[in-house]
Amino acid sequence: MRNVKVPLGNRSYDIKIGTGLLARLGNECARLGLQSRCAIISDSNVAPRYARAAQQALKRGGFDSTLITVPAGETAKSLKTVQTCYDQLAAQRLERRSFIVALGGGVVGDLAGFVAATYLRGIAFAQVPTTLLAQVDSSVGGKVGVNLRAGKNLVGAFYQPRLVLCDLGTLASLPMREYRAGLAEVIKYGIIYDAALFRRLERDLPRLLRRDAETLAAVVARCCQIKAEVVRQDETEGGLRAILNFGHTIGHALEAISHYGRYLHGEAISIGQVAAAVLSARILGLAEDDVARIADLFRRAGLPTAIRLSPSQQKRLLAAMQLDKKVTGGEVKFVLARRIGKVEYGQKVPANVLGEVINHQPSTIH
Ligand SMILES: NC(=O)c1ccc[n+]([C@@H]2O[C@H](COP(=O)([O-])OP(=O)(O)OC[C@H]3O[C@@H](n4cnc5c(N)ncnc54)[C@H](O)[C@@H]3O)[C@@H](O)[C@H]2O)c1
Ligand SMILES: [Zn+2]
Repeated sequence: MRNVKVPLGNRSYDIKIGTGLLARLGNECARLGLQSRCAIISDSNVAPRYARAAQQALKRGGFDSTLITVPAGETAKSLKTVQTCYDQLAAQRLERRSFIVALGGGVVGDLAGFVAATYLRGIAFAQVPTTLLAQVDSSVGGKVGVNLRAGKNLVGAFYQPRLVLCDLGTLASLPMREYRAGLAEVIKYGIIYDAALFRRLERDLPRLLRRDAETLAAVVARCCQIKAEVVRQDETEGGLRAILNFGHTIGHALEAISHYGRYLHGEAISIGQVAAAVLSARILGLAEDDVARIADLFRRAGLPTAIRLSPSQQKRLLAAMQLDKKVTGGEVKFVLARRIGKVEYGQKVPANVLGEVINHQPSTIH
């Protein structure tokens, strides 16, 4: 088992990474001094597969648990589902010392974390992420929340879990498309922070695509370390944490104009990161060779790297970027790469350059 610490003073916690860790959930919760009863929040795909193992493990640790199953998919990240969770917690008489276990992907983690942050003004919670995206990204760092009709993640909190338990064994049942989407965030860490990780991914991608346990363990642990390091320096996104949004300005806009239907998040940010690399070459002098390596790695991971947009879609994409909640004072700022492993945030991109890159995408990138 690998252990990564997230050092945040009295809100510090461990991320445990390994195969078969679900069986140790109860012991780990007991070690933390968590008490009494808990509720597992999971979704309709994950609960039938893993909830029983989680409940048995909790029992062995001395905990009684109740299971709350929400529908699978992004629509469960809503205030309506939050309300049903509150009602069930209250009906089961969960109290201040009880805790919540989020068992599932990023949707369940964000939702259950928000429920934990607010029920009885906050009770403890543990993350048991079961998608690659959740293991390397959403379960770490304490951003929790739900969507509004007006946009994604518009209601939420910074609320750190007490433990993150990544059982790599649960990834075995993850559909390949979801797995590849998680790889888009994995590759992101190489680009923004760690050239050696990027080289490792270039070398080990076939092993990773086979979900080889040893390779996965090393890569997931390195990604969690990077996220922990960034969050330690900037827990509430005052500055540095913005680098985690590399490729996300364009990616989020793509998701929005396709009404969150066509692309998975990882697919949209794959396109977004390749576009950000092209912008980086124009603005920060990222080497053309590195742009090609970046596009190539996403392509080899089976992710889309470009889109063909009609002129009206291009207009809508640019407009959607202006609406991104990270925009301040009406100006879109980008995270751009100087080289692989080193990015800079808060970069202004002249409108004409942005327009050109979006217009020319299909010809400059394949
Ligand atoms: N809080 C953060 O910092 C942060 C960061 C990134 C993304 N997010 C959020 O994460 C969400 C996306 O997360 P996601 O990609 O994990 O999506 P998800 O939670 O919807 O999971 C993807 C699909 O896989 C299924 N699934 C999950 N684990 C499985 C398993 N082991 N076997 C079989 N099926 C499984 C789910 O039921 C779902 O259908 C978005 O809402 C996004 O906003 C949050
Ligand atoms: Zn992302």
